[in-house]
Amino acid sequence: MKKTAEEFAKEQKAISISEFFEKNKHLLGFDNPTKSLLMAVKEAVDNSLDACQEAGILPDIVVKIKNVKEDIYEVMVEDNGPGIVKEQLARVFGKLLYGSKFHRLFQSRGQQGIGISSVTLYSQLTTGEPTKVWSKIESQKKTHYIELHLNTVTNEPDIMKQEDLEKGVLGEHGVKVVMTLHGRYRKTVEDYLKQTSISNPFAKILYTAPDGTKITYPRSVNELPKPPKIMKPHPYGVEFGTLQRMLQKTASRTILSFFTNEFSSVGTQSAKEICKIAKVQADAKPSDLDRASIEKIIKAMQAVKIQRPPLDCLSPIGASEMERSLKKEYPNAEFVTAITREPSVYRGFPFLIEVGIVYGLQGETSQKGGKKNKEEDEDERNGEAIELVRFANRVPLLYQQSACALTEAVKQVDWRRYNMDQKSGSLPSGPMKLIVHICSVWVPFVSESKEAVANYPEIIKETKLAIQDAGRKLSSFLSGKHRAGEQKRRMQIFDRYAPEIAGALSTLTKSDKKVIEKKLKELIASRIHIKEEPENVEAVEAAGKENKNIKNKTEEEED
Ligand SMILES: Nc1ncnc2c1ncn2[C@@H]1O[C@H](COP(=O)(O)OP(=O)(O)OP(=O)(O)O)[C@@H](O)[C@H]1O
Ligand SMILES: [Mg+2]
Repeated sequence: MKKTAEEFAKEQKAISISEFFEKNKHLLGFDNPTKSLLMAVKEAVDNSLDACQEAGILPDIVVKIKNVKEDIYEVMVEDNGPGIVKEQLARVFGKLLYGSKFHRLFQSRGQQGIGISSVTLYSQLTTGEPTKVWSKIESQKKTHYIELHLNTVTNEPDIMKQEDLEKGVLGEHGVKVVMTLHGRYRKTVEDYLKQTSISNPFAKILYTAPDGTKITYPRSVNELPKPPKIMKPHPYGVEFGTLQRMLQKTASRTILSFFTNEFSSVGTQSAKEICKIAKVQADAKPSDLDRASIEKIIKAMQAVKIQRPPLDCLSPIGASEMERSLKKEYPNAEFVTAITREPSVYRGFPFLIEVGIVYGLQGETSQKGGKKNKEEDEDERNGEAIELVRFANRVPLLYQQSACALTEAVKQVDWRRYNMDQKSGSLPSGPMKLIVHICSVWVPFVSESKEAVANYPEIIKETKLAIQDAGRKLSSFLSGKHRAGEQKRRMQIFDRYAPEIAGALSTLTKSDKKVIEKKLKELIASRIHIKEEPENVEAVEAAGKENKNIKNKTEEEED
């Protein structure tokens, strides 16, 4: 039987965003119980860190996971942030796509306004339990408490209980949230917290695992990083629709002031040049521009040389900060280095890449849970892919490694140039941890679960350049290490034959064998200067720099 257009028409219906995500919870990261439990912790902790950092408060965060029964867990996260006003509390936790970060270009962990309410949705879907929230703000005496569900038809909170509490559970200010959900406990929660503590050295996190184990991730610096500035788009890469909307919305009266007011890094000179190339009058009214003119402006904006975005729009971990943090975390590593690139732009959004390298992880648990015996370690790890640790705006990315632009960039680098083994197109292998951090006012994640960065060519290119900067330092170290190893082997050969030669010389010259042997050893030692192990990285680096085989290539040469 045929179906008519009228019959089709009866079936058309708007879909509420919450119904959509109820059916597609995997898009939000809730596709298996282990990941779901991690998502609950991560969304709440990321929010706490964002709120504290923006309010200028050193974060004190408490995380507690309780195993309520079988595969049901209660996740509690408490912070000392500014708190949330009563009027907004329910919507923050009970409405998808509601938040303070989406509409500004500002580097923060959250950006979409979907994170914490998606945990409410998942909790009620799997256990029926409401999300419980306590919020205390400084200007009010009482703590506000609510229990809520998310109404999937209206995408509004269903408040089940709310009251003002005289005696709060919180200090002067902060938020505490408790969510009960279906999950499975794995060490990934600890991995996430450990990595979070590395990328947020100013945060203190107290953690209680389901078995009661308590772990403290202490603060290693007592100052918050310099707050990043709210950004305007950069002209490079801005698209037609975005520019059209900006032109309609702007309060600027002329196209010239529109450029200088609404974009980053555009001065009057560049603005005039854009107008000239696009053949648009500098005093034209922005909203009057037609389609053809907008297209010409887009082209002109790419043609004019405009400065990179300013560094103060982003808040990188910082090379020396990252290096210190990694040395503290991996005290037995043979070599540690880190670099921070200058900001660059994709689609008009400023971003920057940082890379850290930890080489020679003796005694560390290998990524694949391999042997930890010190002797076996190096050989074992030489054939094993390096461990890649990805961060986006200081948040560790624990899933979807192979779908991520940062991974793609690591694979595209020719690691053999830096004395590392690599099958072409794969991650290099060896006892190394590679940290790659992207900071941006808008990180282009491949999905709402924010696990992998989308493959923008500009991002891949900058990541490769950052890796090459750090790779050159690694290469210097490794060639120093190889040379030291070579000399040690030669020394061992001479050492092995010294007694025999001494014996033969003693028979020939009728002198004391022990004296000859001692002299021989002194002679060998004076000819081959070796160090047992590289004692200090700077010395080995300096030695490596002498290696004539390593050319200090420019970025362009390598790319
Ligand atoms: N602990 C908290 N303290 C203060 N404000 C908070 C806290 N948690 C959430 N918020 C506010 O609630 C909003 C919504 O949080 P939610 O996690 O849903 O979205 P987001 O963090 O903006 O983006 P994302 O979906 O990427 O996480 C935030 O933008 C923030 O303004
Ligand atoms: Mg969030």
